[in-house]
Amino acid sequence: MSVSGSESALWRGRSVPSFRETAASNTRGVVPTRDEIAVELAVARARTAVVPALTTYDLRAYYGSTEILHGVNLAFPYRQVTAIIGPSGCGKSTLLRCLNRMHELTPGASVKGRVLLGNQDIYAPDVDPVALRRKIGMVFQRPNPFPTMSIFDNVAAALRWHRVVRRHELADRVEQALRMAALWDEVKDRLHENALGLSGGQQQRLCIARALAIEPEILLMDEPASALDPISTGHIEELIVQLRSRYTVLIVTHNMQQAARISDYTAFMLMGELIEFSPTATLFTNPSDSRTEAYVTGRFG
Ligand SMILES: Nc1ncnc2c1ncn2[C@@H]1O[C@H](COP(=O)(O)OP(=O)(O)O)[C@@H](O)[C@H]1O
Ligand SMILES: [Mg+2]
Repeated sequence: MSVSGSESALWRGRSVPSFRETAASNTRGVVPTRDEIAVELAVARARTAVVPALTTYDLRAYYGSTEILHGVNLAFPYRQVTAIIGPSGCGKSTLLRCLNRMHELTPGASVKGRVLLGNQDIYAPDVDPVALRRKIGMVFQRPNPFPTMSIFDNVAAALRWHRVVRRHELADRVEQALRMAALWDEVKDRLHENALGLSGGQQQRLCIARALAIEPEILLMDEPASALDPISTGHIEELIVQLRSRYTVLIVTHNMQQAARISDYTAFMLMGELIEFSPTATLFTNPSDSRTEAYVTGRFG
């Protein structure tokens, strides 16, 4: 976990001068001193840690006329892992599915409010949901490789579908994605065998490779390890921690130890509402809401 006191203070909205503002206030107009550079770098690092990659405003989700999410306001920090926890049925999966426009694929389902990817409104009329899902990939609870395809083709299919690479680059991109998902060494000699011959944990890493192959900006994971044995779970957790240097990761988990191990920030939900969003260490050790405390100490849920 990489949560420092200064970051959490920043997160609470203390304003920080930008690089440009800092430079403009350098009245001498000369090369900055080493101290000034150190300050700028510290500011830049702190800023990078808390820039939101994805923001929701009064997000409401419905199945028919039943409101499931009751106005969620959240800012998911850029290139950090955010865990979403809360009791079964509180709307974690629904929230995730609103973030890449999958919720609306369920008949009768609808969404209100706004979701911004950077500064782009993902529900704006000119946004193509298929193109959007290329930027916001998703991994599900049960590994779902394409059952008739080889290991290679499972990853290549996504690249072909989105037409993101030329034919001669395909093998390289498949290898790259499998390496990123920490699966390459285990499958490099059997790439053309059926994907269903892999273990559950390997299949899940294959699904992660498939999602990463098209280089999304954000990776949504809905309880990606809950169907796996402890060793495979360990692989997936290590992988998530590594992915954070390149991706913004949102992971739903019912496992609080897992959230504590792998996430930088945690969002706690209850009955369709966001109760608390904090740096993970804070949420687990010094929560600001009594309901969070009751949940993380196991007194309900
Ligand atoms: N397809 C659906 N139709 C109607 N209600 C649904 C559907 N899917 C989920 N729900 C309801 O929405 C609520 C939130 O579900 P969900 O987002 O799956 O919760 P979680 O992932 O936190 O367990 C639950 O009350 C659930 O019963
Ligand atoms: Mg769920």
